[in-house]
Amino acid sequence: MELNTIERDDIGAAAEDLVVPPAATRKVFVKTYGCQMNVYDSQRMTDALATDGYVATDAVGEADLVLLNTCHIREKAAEKVYSELGRIRELKAERAKAGREMLVGVAGCVAQAEGAEIIRRSPVVDLVIGPQTYHRLPAVLAKARSGEKIVETDYAVEDKFEHLPQPKRAELIRRGVTAFLTVQEGCDKFCTFCVVPYTRGSEVSRPVAQIVAEAERLADAGVREVTLLGQNVNAWHGRGEDCEEWGLGRLLFRLAEIPGLARLRYTTSHPRDMDDELIAAHRDLPTLMPYLHLPVQSGSDRILKAMNRRHMAKDYLTLIDRIRAARNDIALSGDFIVGFPGETEADFEATMQLVEDVNYASAFSFKYSPRPGTPGAEMNDQVPEAVKDERLQRLQALLLKQQQHFGASLVGRTIDTLIEKPGRQAGQKVGRSPWLQPVIVDEKAGEIGDIIQVRITKTGYNSLFAELA
Ligand code: 5AD
Ligand code: SF4
Repeated sequence: MELNTIERDDIGAAAEDLVVPPAATRKVFVKTYGCQMNVYDSQRMTDALATDGYVATDAVGEADLVLLNTCHIREKAAEKVYSELGRIRELKAERAKAGREMLVGVAGCVAQAEGAEIIRRSPVVDLVIGPQTYHRLPAVLAKARSGEKIVETDYAVEDKFEHLPQPKRAELIRRGVTAFLTVQEGCDKFCTFCVVPYTRGSEVSRPVAQIVAEAERLADAGVREVTLLGQNVNAWHGRGEDCEEWGLGRLLFRLAEIPGLARLRYTTSHPRDMDDELIAAHRDLPTLMPYLHLPVQSGSDRILKAMNRRHMAKDYLTLIDRIRAARNDIALSGDFIVGFPGETEADFEATMQLVEDVNYASAFSFKYSPRPGTPGAEMNDQVPEAVKDERLQRLQALLLKQQQHFGASLVGRTIDTLIEKPGRQAGQKVGRSPWLQPVIVDEKAGEIGDIIQVRITKTGYNSLFAELA
């Protein structure tokens, strides 16, 4: 497709007067907002830019290219991007005074949702690129460097993953012993509060061979733990090596065969897509970590219906029972929204009751934030901010109590820990429990990448302290 072009707004100096550094010495600063998929996408964009001569920098003032990988899920997330662009405008003007160029790009879900509006509101931006077109980044940048303003938000017909370059082995090693791997993107569920189906498009599953090859590369670079990502990851499906249709459960069994990969996880799931095979994978696959993020959003059937979640509270509780029967040490995590339009005190109480019934190990909870273009934003009975605030506080107090209770229940127990990185304090290393908690151990307890047995001695606010068992 054609790239859209908008008149350039020059800051400080005309584009042709600025010194454009030769490839190989260009620097890119990437800032990532939002979910793990954006973290993964930022890495893949950095890999694509490496082939274009860009090296990553942590110093935004030194960057020839600043890329914001944005999130649109709630209003606050989107607003952060505009305030960051205000700061970048000053940096760009300073660099222009010194005769240096600074291209500014907005990627991710705000880019997809707002497109050219971003450049209108923030003329400092040179390029806007949506999540489905990251493989075109080098071509887009070449145009931007010649002074065009670019908005590239069409859904690409080609498979971006096939066109995105793989990182070098040394780069994978540098990134550490845990990694994300996107297997599925987009969503067809259309929950009435959510922008994802509009910003990430309809559900697409990556092919088995591509996923297996990427997982093998990760394992070869020393990665021990892989988290499969998708907006609706448990809706992943594909034609397997045996020519049969596989679901996520089968895929997990296949990935568990890869030598070196010791731990598998996946996120985020929809309750409607937890099939028998996936539950069986939790029962039969020791590599699959006993932790499941399974958002329910509300405990009220009336609100679940208005949210178009397509299940009732009871269905969720029954599902949790089946999952716990398959793997009794599984820890559950969830997402909750308070103050969805029409939510009464009784509806909110039903959510509190569901939380009591499930007993979560961790959870995320949010005030409903109307998103332009979603059905929820058009609904009557929007809940006043003060009511949302008060409900969120009550819900979070309960969730925090459950989280602390879960941590405390591990004290004295011996568990596996994957050593991930040096600790913040000298003499310590940080590992990760099967249930995703950071585990602080003595640095001599093991090398990075080792999976060791530790005994939990006490809990921190969000972490566990342990000694070698
Ligand atoms: N307002 C508040 N929270 C939202 N989420 C998604 N959309 C909204 C919204 N409009 C939350 C849901 C989802 C998580 C990623 O973000 O809980 O599971
Ligand atoms: Fe959004 Fe998840 Fe619902 Fe899809 S299933 S619309 S990503 S909340």
